[in-house]
Amino acid sequence: MEEKMKLTMDKLVNLCKARGLIFPGSDIYGGMGNTWDYGPVGVELKNNIKRAWWKRFVQENPNAYGVDAAILMNPRVWDASGHTQSFADPKMDCRSCKQRFRADNLIEAHSKGNQSAEAMTTQEMEEYISQNKVKCPHCGNFNWTPIRQFKLMFETSRGTVEGEKDVVYLRPETAQGEYVNFLNVQRSMRAKVPFAIAQIGKAFRNEITPGNFIFRTIEFEQMELQNFCKEESSFALYEEFKQRSKQFLLDLGFSEQHLRFHDHEKLAFYAKAACDIQFFSPLGWEELNGIHHRSAHDLTRHQEFSGKNLQYVDPVTNEKYLPNVIEYSIGCDRLVLAVLTEAYDEEQLENGETRVVMHFHPALAPFKVAVLPLQKNLSDKAKEVYAMLCKEFRCDYDEAGSIGKRYRRQDEIGTPFCVTIDFDTLEDGTVTIRHRDTMAQERLKIEELVPYISAKIKF
Ligand code: GAP
Repeated sequence: MEEKMKLTMDKLVNLCKARGLIFPGSDIYGGMGNTWDYGPVGVELKNNIKRAWWKRFVQENPNAYGVDAAILMNPRVWDASGHTQSFADPKMDCRSCKQRFRADNLIEAHSKGNQSAEAMTTQEMEEYISQNKVKCPHCGNFNWTPIRQFKLMFETSRGTVEGEKDVVYLRPETAQGEYVNFLNVQRSMRAKVPFAIAQIGKAFRNEITPGNFIFRTIEFEQMELQNFCKEESSFALYEEFKQRSKQFLLDLGFSEQHLRFHDHEKLAFYAKAACDIQFFSPLGWEELNGIHHRSAHDLTRHQEFSGKNLQYVDPVTNEKYLPNVIEYSIGCDRLVLAVLTEAYDEEQLENGETRVVMHFHPALAPFKVAVLPLQKNLSDKAKEVYAMLCKEFRCDYDEAGSIGKRYRRQDEIGTPFCVTIDFDTLEDGTVTIRHRDTMAQERLKIEELVPYISAKIKF
């Protein structure tokens, strides 16, 4: 684990800003708490992560169907899901400095992760904080308000006539868009249970825990997949998805040591099993994704609240039933953070310099290749090579500064290949290709570049 300690959240935030990965939201106005904007490099990384997820869980899964449901949904959806009644965090205000904190986070931070607040009642949390004299992390005082439940759903209103506005909510998860489309997808695609509905999209939560970069934000993207199955096969599918979601992370380059399962101690009344995969980050061990056995709760509730019969009819046996759901949910932005922390490295070079390098899986790397003319008077040839490569891959082009500095810049954004154009290129049509991880260099013909790089960036 030692090498991970080289990275602090401050270092990562600064690198991300300096290198065009992630900027503070509304930066020129002093920012807006818990919002972040992806820059030109970051948006490529995030898109590549979404592509890899979709490929693995939709494209390569013959029983999976994608949707892109509306963010604003009929408010009854949130009554059925239980969000309007109980989607809230236990919060406390420090009376001295007026900062607001989540009581469960205070307890877990105070106990250095040894005391989980997951299964605690409000009273138990208050008792723990009082008995252990848990102080305000901001001002150091012990001067708390009682715990209050803080609603996490953002409300907005729709209505064309002034005064006749209806409350609608920005969805706090994408999952409900998958549940409400269960029958639409099943019928239009002639899908047979077991099958899955997947979607990637924005979700919004009025979170009150600032200061952890993109780990917990008020606006974020989720990648969620609901498996609809018979009760008899549900536990096997739950176990399968635990393994598949971990394998996905291992295939993206995560080390086994930096991932672990965390089975939930306390289950929702309808849930039959639940676990997270946690990753090792500069914040410690944190949740990356969840796998939940939700029984037939979701379809049962939507059937009840919508008044529509949502039963699946087995085409062979004619059996009618509401399927169980095994949910797999991962925050895209949280996966971006995990990928960044996993990829980050600082290497001591022989000349005494430190090389910061992002060892992204090549399929995730924002730019696959950078074209670098050794001197500016080689730029015509270099631009020709760039024009060829950018038809196939996202490429960067850089002719400013020494070649060493240009390599360093590409290392910091994790570009797996740099192609250098020199005077021999004009003579024999060959270039130098330099590998990010080993810094080894080899000579290739220009026409070999596309097949060579294509083979190395597959996921
Ligand atoms: N539909 C199930 C669901 O939404 P969740 O555990 O609340 O479950 C799933 O969220 C995942 O979404 C989390 O594991 C995390 O990766 C991500 N996530 C949740 N809240 C987030 C936030 N405020 N900011 C960033 N990612 C978040």
